[in-house]
Amino acid sequence: MGRFRVLSLLLVCLPLSGGVLAESHQAANPSAGASQYAGAEICKTCHEGIFNGLQRTPHSKAHMKEKGGEKAQACETCHGPGAAHVEGGGDVSKIFSFKGAAADDINHRCLSCHAREHEHSAFSESAHASAKLSCSSCHSPHHAKEQRALLTEKQPGLCYSCHSVQRAEFSNLFRHRVNEGLILCADCHNVHAASSRSLRSSPEQDQVCFKCHRELEGPFMFEHVPVKTEGCMRCHQPHGSVNPRMLKVNPVNLLCLQCHTPSLTPNAKSGENNVGGTPAGPVHDQTMKFQACTLCHVFIHGSNADETFMK
Ligand code: HEC
Ligand code: HEC
Ligand code: HEC
Ligand code: HEC
Ligand code: HEC
Ligand code: HEC
Ligand code: HEC
Ligand code: HEC
Ligand code: HEC
Ligand code: HEC
Repeated sequence: MGRFRVLSLLLVCLPLSGGVLAESHQAANPSAGASQYAGAEICKTCHEGIFNGLQRTPHSKAHMKEKGGEKAQACETCHGPGAAHVEGGGDVSKIFSFKGAAADDINHRCLSCHAREHEHSAFSESAHASAKLSCSSCHSPHHAKEQRALLTEKQPGLCYSCHSVQRAEFSNLFRHRVNEGLILCADCHNVHAASSRSLRSSPEQDQVCFKCHRELEGPFMFEHVPVKTEGCMRCHQPHGSVNPRMLKVNPVNLLCLQCHTPSLTPNAKSGENNVGGTPAGPVHDQTMKFQACTLCHVFIHGSNADETFMK
């Protein structure tokens, strides 16, 4: 089938491309009508480097696809019909060029195949689409510097090229080790998604953390209320922080005392000091030895053994 098709396409283009294809005269196939499509073998005659390069990428799968007719094959799936371009001896005004094309045009072309995948189906409502980025802002089918997903550059460098604030956050001493390649931006974000902050599992933001920190998900016999009601980002910065454990506040007692008011009444548990649902204060004082709260209240995210999270 492949060989026959190529030959018949050669014939179609023969009158259009003059001398270039003169040697394929014998391939005459009287049944072929005039087509707007030239076929990849024709493109190869002038763009051999690009043709060979494409064979080494996942798009060679699209290349080999035989169903869907000639418009579903190879170069012209992305660039559109190319017979006129060939006829004009490479007339650049007669072929779709991605350089300088409007973002919507580019996205539309790529999504004609990729919109079916869950990962990309909502791209047009994403923060990146709203910011007029196109698939080509991050992907390059022919000149990818990073073969993983045909990216124009590796993560996180690709992302930092526009997101300098995040570059700074990830250069803090305490951080997720994205720069070292241990975690990818894409582990937490789906840059094609329409979710809040393009997070992988919204609206419940914490879900994105449980993908790796499963042991903190619970449910626990004794929950630390804010972990459940306000979420991880109440106390942590997800990218990085100047504070140990990527905490928003340091030292740790200042974090706790945002909510807990020290109480020197021994029986605080009875709720006497607990006005209108505010958390109980520590039953102990605030002298030095009690300042490193999590030295004693170790299981600060919840415990199955102790209501004050000490074991
Ligand atoms: C998956 C979509 C896709 C397919 C398939 C595709 N191209 Fe491209 N082509 C692009 C994009 C996007 C660009 C812009 C440059 C880039 O991002 O790599 C481009 C750029 C080009 C250029 C401009 C010069 C350059 O090097 O950037 C030529 C020529 C070209 N393609 C020819 C071809 C030929 C020939 C084939 C088939 C062998 C082909 N393309 C298949 C998407 C595609
Ligand atoms: C007869 C030779 C010839 C054939 C056959 C040919 N091209 Fe071209 N093509 C050229 C020339 C010449 C240029 C302009 C110089 C350049 O950019 O390389 C060009 C440029 C392009 C560009 C870049 C346009 C731009 O301005 O960025 C694309 C895309 C392209 N060709 C795609 C194709 C595709 C797809 C096919 C097959 C359907 C094809 N070409 C077949 C000669 C040819
Ligand atoms: C802001 C940059 C950016 C934009 C814009 C973008 N992508 Fe991506 N894309 C990525 C990154 C990063 C990955 C790799 C994710 C990973 O590492 O798992 C990716 C992965 C992919 C994959 C690989 C398949 C997969 O599920 O892993 C496909 C296909 C894809 N993108 C298609 C598209 C299409 C189509 C568009 C335009 C509609 C687009 N992308 C726009 C950055 C982008
Ligand atoms: C004719 C359909 C078609 C079009 C149009 C198309 N693709 Fe693809 N794309 C595919 C197929 C098929 C694969 C291979 C999927 C696989 O391996 O399961 C693929 C794979 C990819 C991958 C994944 C590479 C990897 O490492 O897994 C990326 C990224 C991608 N395409 C981006 C694009 C971009 C950007 C465009 C527009 C310039 C585009 N595609 C246009 C069919 C298409
Ligand atoms: C460990 C998970 C995780 C990783 C890895 C991650 N992010 Fe985020 N990112 C988040 C969360 C969670 C938010 C939402 C923060 C909030 O709402 O307070 C966010 C927010 C953002 C925002 C929105 C601006 C803001 O601060 O609210 C941008 C932009 C962003 N991230 C870019 C990146 C880039 C670029 C990378 C890789 C260099 C990256 N992220 C890696 C979890 C992550
Ligand atoms: C070409 C520039 C560019 C590149 C490359 C880029 N972004 Fe963006 N990104 C933007 C713009 C512009 C916005 C929308 C404005 C904003 O919120 O900063 C945005 C928005 C976002 C948001 C959503 C912010 C929100 O408030 O909802 C996240 C998350 C994000 N980018 C992550 C990434 C990640 C991860 C990468 C790398 C895979 C990346 N971006 C690559 C330009 C870029
Ligand atoms: C892709 C996996 C992954 C995801 C998703 C993830 N983390 Fe992590 N996290 C890690 C790894 C691995 C470490 C160990 C860090 C190291 O050794 O560099 C870590 C460490 C931490 C630390 C301790 C840092 C320190 O200084 O000891 C905190 C706090 C943390 N993560 C919070 C979060 C939060 C909050 C989220 C959700 C926004 C999240 N993580 C999502 C993998 C992940
Ligand atoms: C009430 C504030 C608070 C909330 C909410 C919170 N954490 Fe923490 N987290 C802390 C404190 C304080 C530490 C430091 C414990 C220590 O000093 O050892 C910590 C430490 C961590 C660590 C380091 C390893 C460990 O277990 O000590 C990880 C990982 C972590 N938190 C992830 C999360 C995740 C994921 C969430 C959301 C489910 C979350 N945290 C919600 C206060 C909080
Ligand atoms: C965002 C507010 C908030 C922050 C920050 C916070 N807590 Fe809590 N904490 C609560 C609430 C609300 C409760 C449950 C109400 C109650 O039982 O009084 C609670 C309960 C507790 C309990 C169990 C009390 C009991 O009576 O069983 C302990 C122990 C505790 N927190 C310690 C800490 C420590 C240590 C920190 C700092 C690492 C901290 N909390 C940070 C809000 C907070
Ligand atoms: C030296 C160990 C130690 C340190 C450090 C410590 N605590 Fe405690 N905390 C305890 C003990 C012991 C109890 C009583 C537990 C019980 O009765 O079961 C307690 C009880 C509590 C309670 C529960 C009060 C109640 O009503 O039962 C809270 C809230 C609390 N601590 C918060 C804090 C905060 C906030 C800090 C840091 C400023 C802190 N603790 C530092 C040992 C410590």
